[in-house]
Amino acid sequence: MNILSFKKIDSTNTYAKKRIEELNDKTIISADLQTAGRGRFTRSWTDLGSENIYMSIIIKPNFAMPEHIFGCNVESKSKSVPKLCNGIPEVFSNLTQYLAVKLCFQLEQLGLKPQIKWPNDVLLNDKKVSGILAESVFKGGQLKGIVLGIGINLNASLENLQNIDRPATSLNLELEQDIDKESFMMNLLNSFFNDYDSFIANGFKSIKDDYIKRANFLEKNLKVSVFNVEKEGFSIDVSDNGSLVLKLKDGSIEKLNMGEIV
Ligand code: BTN
Repeated sequence: MNILSFKKIDSTNTYAKKRIEELNDKTIISADLQTAGRGRFTRSWTDLGSENIYMSIIIKPNFAMPEHIFGCNVESKSKSVPKLCNGIPEVFSNLTQYLAVKLCFQLEQLGLKPQIKWPNDVLLNDKKVSGILAESVFKGGQLKGIVLGIGINLNASLENLQNIDRPATSLNLELEQDIDKESFMMNLLNSFFNDYDSFIANGFKSIKDDYIKRANFLEKNLKVSVFNVEKEGFSIDVSDNGSLVLKLKDGSIEKLNMGEIV
């Protein structure tokens, strides 16, 4: 693991995406300040000061991807070609959920009770403390890499948090003490990479129980926005590949592999 630290950057994800070809697998881009931090669904990610985490992990799966198979749950005909989800091997699309679980473990070591809002938001007392944005970079139909960006509110002021348009919190406020950014970040990265190979080999199934134990969205009537369509149903499960399983009003079952609970 190689860490590139910046004082100020537009966005660690944007930086990583632009330079993906020259950066090695498992490179970390970290910044004290993001001037154009990005969230999911073209939202922005607010900068809350230099003692919070803004970082991106570069993942470069080391096999060539065929350009003709897109969509989750597509069974590969060849043994050497993995199942794909949105153009990337399915297990890599679950990395955001793996990272969310790893973050939960770390928060629990601090005595907190984190929850996961599908697919990968981490909450404390129903308020968001971390968000994850995964972006894939393709060139000429080839997957060049995946950028896994995470923002964690470690040391934010109540005033700055109140400027965010959704309920948000920060570790320092939950624990009533300042958090050491360097050691928090290193612990998370070490924990992420310690089990990384085994996660890639075994897939979402290997973390499913840990994920579900922390899920705050099961057995509820939910509205999920998927692109511009809103799906409404009762959440019954998370599938073995990390999809949200909804029972719709007409009794049919729908598995969602992307979207946002609204
Ligand atoms: C979300 O919850 O909407 C995802 C937020 C992801 C924010 C992080 S901060 C580091 C990295 N760089 C970005 O511009 N975004 C991600």
